[in-house]
Amino acid sequence: MNIAIIGTGYVGLVTGTCFAEIGHHVICVDNDPEKVRTLQSGGIPIYEPGLEELVPRNVAAGRLRFTGSVAEGVEHADVIFIAVPTPPLPDGSVDLSFIEGVAREIAACLTSYKIVVDKSTVPVKTGEKVAETIRRYNRAKVEFDVVSNPEFLREGSAVEDFMHPDRIVIGVSSPRPVPRMREIYAPIDAPVLVTDINSAELIKHAANSFLALKISYINAISVICEASGADVQEVANGIGLDKRIGRRFLDAGLGFGGSCFPKDLSAFIKIAEQLGYDFGLLKQVQLINAQQMDRFLRKITDTLWVLKDKRIGVLGLAFKQNTDDVRLSPAIEVCQRLLREGARLRVYDPRAMEKAKAVLPPGPTVEYVPERDAVAEGCDALVIATEWPEFKQLDLERARRTMTHPILFDGRNLFDPREMERLGWVYKSVGR
Ligand code: UGA
Repeated sequence: MNIAIIGTGYVGLVTGTCFAEIGHHVICVDNDPEKVRTLQSGGIPIYEPGLEELVPRNVAAGRLRFTGSVAEGVEHADVIFIAVPTPPLPDGSVDLSFIEGVAREIAACLTSYKIVVDKSTVPVKTGEKVAETIRRYNRAKVEFDVVSNPEFLREGSAVEDFMHPDRIVIGVSSPRPVPRMREIYAPIDAPVLVTDINSAELIKHAANSFLALKISYINAISVICEASGADVQEVANGIGLDKRIGRRFLDAGLGFGGSCFPKDLSAFIKIAEQLGYDFGLLKQVQLINAQQMDRFLRKITDTLWVLKDKRIGVLGLAFKQNTDDVRLSPAIEVCQRLLREGARLRVYDPRAMEKAKAVLPPGPTVEYVPERDAVAEGCDALVIATEWPEFKQLDLERARRTMTHPILFDGRNLFDPREMERLGWVYKSVGR
């Protein structure tokens, strides 16, 4: 099948590359000439495990190429996927201007029947608007169908999630595009759920909000655990073994961040409001998430008292493991709030240092340490802010020897509290 992907960000690049990997012929389009040049010359603008192998392989096989021209993409493709950003507006609603712009561009280039698929996360009823827009700007009155095919890819494991999804959702307003959509995904072994477009769009927001709710739920439980002397990880294991609940997304910590959950929650609350429903439950999810960060920082100030001129080592800057993405990263927020109190930071992340430099203040208050085990040197305390598995291998003995006093604030519960105590650490984690 010939496929075009409009928008070559995290979702577009992974989706396009994986479609090529399963045998389709893909053109990825982007309006950022710099990004297109990078991709055309073999570079990959983001870190996502698997891409560095898959992109060159599929380019070499002639199944994947990059262009700045929507017209070229539309001409090549039977099916056009829209994967452009849908950034938040100040009131929490979603900026759909990129989607609208692309819909108009596609409409202007249509010369034969195409399926236009929305992959970007959008409010319910966007599909209807996209169809209306294409109809209006498609002067040649060429036939087309609009489909909603939400993505459920997690950054850091997006290729794996694409190849082994829990489900594929296809939202349509007529049966015509269904066989082709099924054919595209035929090599992937997963249940296919065909729905109307509005339901498909809602599935995406409802799924992300539910996952965020799970995280806030366990974070709220972590507060009760701290107050009662229980251990949140034991509680999560105990409730997670119930198949109706499941253990995943029950890791208490600094709360959720990233470019999806915070934005999608706000958007869903706004959409509900516009549809006449006050989604108080999700407002609580947001509140618990914000309080979790406050509580963690309070632990630091309660222990260290004055932060001014204290030297603090921070392990982790990305919003989660296996990514270089720092957008709405809880780790970056920890850094910013410690800096605001006058602390001086020594920071390390296996992948996100470059991107962090663009968001943390320049100057001597933030020192980027190239080696994980050297971060603790001369520090008054260490903070773990991202759940990178390799932080579990931290050389604790070296850290202990080189710090003023061995204090570790673990925002991701990577170590065993009893073991840390035995090793002589003042160890403060979340909900234990
Ligand atoms: C999320 C969803 O998991 C994907 O299914 C969805 O496709 C994607 O958003 C999207 O809408 O594009 P992502 O934001 O990449 O994926 O990352 P997650 O793995 O969901 O983690 C989000 C945040 O929750 C991270 O800050 C992570 O540290 C935090 N988290 C996750 C917890 O605090 N506890 C957990 O148990 C799990």
